[in-house]
Amino acid sequence: MKQYRGHAAKVTREKDDDTIRYSDELIEEIRLSNDIVDVVSEYVRLEKKGKNYFGLCPFHREKTPSFSVEPGKQIFYCFGCGKGGNVFHFISLAERLDFADAVKLLADRAKIPLPESEDPREKERAKLRQQVQDINLIAARFFYDALRSKQGEAAVEYLRKRGITEGTIRKFGLGYSYEGWDKLYEHLKSHGISEEAMLASGLVIKGSSGRLFDRFKGRLMFPIFDVRGNVIGFGGRVLDDSLPKYMNSPETVLYNKRKHLYALNFAKNNGGNSIIVVEGYMDAISLHQRGISNVVASLGTALTDSQARLLKKYAEEVIISYDSDAAGQAATLRGLEILNDVGCNVRVLTLPEGKDPDEYIKANGADKFRWLANNALPLVEYKIRVIRKEHDLSVTEEKIKFLNKAANVLVKVDNALEREMYIKKLSREYEISEEAMLSEIIRRTRPAAAQRMKMSKTVETAGKTISAAESTKEKIIHSERFVLSLLCVDNSIYNVVKEHFKIGSYISEENNRIAGILYRRIEEGSGVSPAELMNIVSAEESGIFARILNEECHCDDNEKAILGKIRDIELMKTEMRRDQIIDLLKNRSKLSEDEVDKLESELRELIQELKRIKETPEYRKEGRGRR
Ligand code: GTP
Ligand code: MN
Repeated sequence: MKQYRGHAAKVTREKDDDTIRYSDELIEEIRLSNDIVDVVSEYVRLEKKGKNYFGLCPFHREKTPSFSVEPGKQIFYCFGCGKGGNVFHFISLAERLDFADAVKLLADRAKIPLPESEDPREKERAKLRQQVQDINLIAARFFYDALRSKQGEAAVEYLRKRGITEGTIRKFGLGYSYEGWDKLYEHLKSHGISEEAMLASGLVIKGSSGRLFDRFKGRLMFPIFDVRGNVIGFGGRVLDDSLPKYMNSPETVLYNKRKHLYALNFAKNNGGNSIIVVEGYMDAISLHQRGISNVVASLGTALTDSQARLLKKYAEEVIISYDSDAAGQAATLRGLEILNDVGCNVRVLTLPEGKDPDEYIKANGADKFRWLANNALPLVEYKIRVIRKEHDLSVTEEKIKFLNKAANVLVKVDNALEREMYIKKLSREYEISEEAMLSEIIRRTRPAAAQRMKMSKTVETAGKTISAAESTKEKIIHSERFVLSLLCVDNSIYNVVKEHFKIGSYISEENNRIAGILYRRIEEGSGVSPAELMNIVSAEESGIFARILNEECHCDDNEKAILGKIRDIELMKTEMRRDQIIDLLKNRSKLSEDEVDKLESELRELIQELKRIKETPEYRKEGRGRR
């Protein structure tokens, strides 16, 4: 993760001279204009329970929701993986952006103009993106119109032959790119587009002679849309059997093929909770035309994890329908793992050998295809079926190999009921006794379990090597964090907090730094909220603070709670010093007599002090704080 330690207003880029500064006020305005529940809802299905919202965590795999959003505090926290923070942290995790870019994205979302970046490269890039966006739109219209021209007749004929209707042509904005060298180039020029921008769009390329000409010639054109329906690139298919069959826009400032899915702009609104992934443009279009509208295409490349996250955002379940040939099968398996890793439920729709979805639905109709989708195989069953094909089960040796590999797959199923179901099913299907299957699985489970047990033991022994004083120190730092968190929940306890925790008296330097900023803001009268605290703490600690805010900061009486904490901290500090002295006195041979005397008298005092604190039922302000 990029650095956004310290004050959020200073966003450090790779080089210091590139540092952009957004004021605290601006960052706060952006945050306030992006309600965390709204923003998170674009990624996670949230359900309201009481005051808070819950959903499946987008940052780790889980089947029951442990991810919570608190609208009141405008923070999120996951009990499962410990990630937490405000809306900026959420976006930077979900979109893998650094803090500066998360701020930008949310400013954009809220239509808040950011001060013109002082970084000229940044300005240049924004301008270029806009230009490429404009070019794509002009080009899409140009291709669309070309389809209606005399030259476009062949393409229209081709589409008709493939059964594509007029409505589909319109819906997907299909078009045609003229034969010839520079029809689009000339058209763009007539729109006053600079050559530099044309080249950046990838629709125009420069020949070795330096001349500019069109990338796409004589092809059927498929505009590629982003989720919001902007044209970000194109695919172009030849009208015959020549090669290459398809050409696509290159990567540009707008288009990154690893991050987009074709037809997702249509599929995301289908209302269901599953999405079918196919390989090709024609497959997606053909299925949409026949009323199967929850379909996207991955465009021939293996699914990436950004695409998987994108899918998870719109669907609980993803059904993969790739070719059943060897390459398609390999791509399917990779895709399954990637989807599984981001927490999607995945199933596999297998078509009869040699058929792609377009051909299948044309020959068999939408109902048959729907039936196949409803009966798609779950991940585990699909994997076992693939393994099954590699072995001839009439040969004993092969059967054993198959059994072993199947056991490897089943070991990974962590739900015991589900695993048992598969064991039953397998033993029935392949005539293997349930006992044999089970014992193979157990044999594989044991070492892992043993490993886990071993590990937890080392942690335990490691734990014991930490001195009592060290672990008390950790507890104090935690309590200090609580004090800072509660201060943000309720600024009115500031006077009590300030009195007992002068800057410099927190035992963690990080907490002193945070306190410095909080105190200053409160004194200046601008106040601080929990979500703002998140901007101040380091990225690594945002989860810890989110947990404290989420779980601990619900007090009936904040002042009383803070006084109780102050007493706890005083007690722990005293105990920590006592433990340190006890440790020192264990090695008294290394100490002078004088030192031993001093330590022993301090120890006696500390023990008195501890007794006094413990006897004070409720901390009183006049109680002397020990530093
Ligand atoms: P049709 O052959 O017209 O039915 O197209 P299709 O969409 O079914 O294509 P196919 O299944 O052969 O390939 C799937 C996807 O892979 C295509 O939609 C393209 O995105 C991509 N693809 C196929 N061939 C090529 C190629 O030659 N070059 C590139 N860059 N991509 C290709
Ligand atoms: Mn096809």
